[in-house]
Amino acid sequence: MDRREFLKIAGTAVATLAVREGVGALVTEGMKKGKKVVAINGSPNLEGNTHYALSLMGDEFAKENVDFSILSIGREKIKGCIACMTCKETGECPFATDRELEIIEQMKNADAIVLASPVYYGGIAGTMKQFLDKAFYSAGDSFAHKLGASVVTENHSGGSVTTESLNQYLLIRQINVVASSYWNVIKGHGKEAIRADEEGERTIRTLAINIANALKNQ
Ligand SMILES: Cc1cc2nc3c(=O)[nH]c(=O)nc-3n(C[C@H](O)[C@H](O)[C@H](O)COP(=O)(O)O)c2cc1C
Repeated sequence: MDRREFLKIAGTAVATLAVREGVGALVTEGMKKGKKVVAINGSPNLEGNTHYALSLMGDEFAKENVDFSILSIGREKIKGCIACMTCKETGECPFATDRELEIIEQMKNADAIVLASPVYYGGIAGTMKQFLDKAFYSAGDSFAHKLGASVVTENHSGGSVTTESLNQYLLIRQINVVASSYWNVIKGHGKEAIRADEEGERTIRTLAINIANALKNQ
């Protein structure tokens, strides 16, 4: 039997099994399901520059009927990881607040995760980092094979280092990081300057379009 014949017979066998086991209905339903993207906003400014950057992504996702939510973490009282290792046994951080657990649950249910932060002293804003350390350690493999991206806003510098730091969380959990046409940073001193950063805006919009397209192939 040649390869083509084998594949034909194997394909028929799988399809027959799927119908017999009722898997066919599940597969169809899964393909029709709307895709869901959650963005974690690490800024304490609920309507600030980082939220603005994420809202640009929201515009693009809306055009593609992608369900998009922005979840803010920057104002929460969040403890840092104390390396107790409890989450390795239980899959949950014993020090996580209800809000943290709720956000982690939404991340688990999403098809793509966006991590967004303002640059603070050349790095990730503190509260966001506290959250990410715990969320990604306790998550184990539950985020694996989702799509992901990082988005950053800055006054002047530190943006590309900060996006790389955010990407480390995605990469170590086997999340496929989606690219754009530049580093995903919007730059400017203050609200007006941030909104005038056309290249930054284009980069973030392209990122959202690339995520939406990649989700179509999932
Ligand atoms: C504590 C603190 C540290 C900051 N450090 C930097 C920095 O290192 N580099 C920079 O370009 N901007 C820095 N900024 C500016 C913010 O990153 C920038 O204004 C960002 O767009 C704020 O986003 P938000 O409005 O979402 O909070 C800092 C701001 C604060 C409050």
